[in-house]
Amino acid sequence: MFFDFGELSRHNCHKLMTSTIVPRPIAWVSTLNADGSVNVGPFSFFNIVSEDPPLVSIGVGSGERFQGDRKDTGVNIRRSGEFVVSLVAYVNADAMVMTAVNLPAGRSELEFAGLETMPSARIAVPRIRQSPVSLECRLFQSIDIGDGQSLVLGRVVGAHVDDGAVLDAGRCYIDTRKLDLIARMHGNGWYTRMTDWFQRVTPRAN
Ligand SMILES: Cc1cc2nc3c(=O)[nH]c(=O)nc-3n(C[C@H](O)[C@H](O)[C@H](O)COP(=O)(O)O)c2cc1C
Repeated sequence: MFFDFGELSRHNCHKLMTSTIVPRPIAWVSTLNADGSVNVGPFSFFNIVSEDPPLVSIGVGSGERFQGDRKDTGVNIRRSGEFVVSLVAYVNADAMVMTAVNLPAGRSELEFAGLETMPSARIAVPRIRQSPVSLECRLFQSIDIGDGQSLVLGRVVGAHVDDGAVLDAGRCYIDTRKLDLIARMHGNGWYTRMTDWFQRVTPRAN
């Protein structure tokens, strides 16, 4: 079956991409609102871009029902130039989905989700205490892609990794399995846990 994206509605393009481009890692992004309070939200249009400079990317969509408004996360990143990407462990799943709820203005997502924050080392935006990995980021570039959507590129200036998952700090060896991270699948609330591992080492050309 061929799906011609030129013929499809925005909603169907979204469905086809999000049900095939899986699993997607989840950036649990904290930012500072204009009044200094902390905003948190999950973003699965997220990945590593490069290591020099060390960049990550986040696709921030338009708001509720594709109305072309802008999400607080993107607005805050562009205003303050800083954000923290925390990664989501299996034990964080319930709290993570609670931070995607659109709460009435003034209501704290952190309190609603039962989360606490810790100060960051290099930026003013705090990180989520319950997450096993937090990447402190400074805005590298925000690309407006129309209708309230943007591609945010962040330069990672430092990473906090749970001590229990650090194998050799000098060599930056991490016990990735111990992080027990989850990833977004498709549809109504499906996620995957990394419990089915296999190895294929890239062969050398000879
Ligand atoms: C697992 C998960 C992944 C999500 N990924 C994205 C995403 O990549 N881009 C996006 O715009 N919204 C995404 N959302 C929706 C946002 O988290 C939601 O709109 C949130 O309220 C945004 O927070 P903000 O308005 O405070 O910025 C996702 C929601 C969930 C639960």
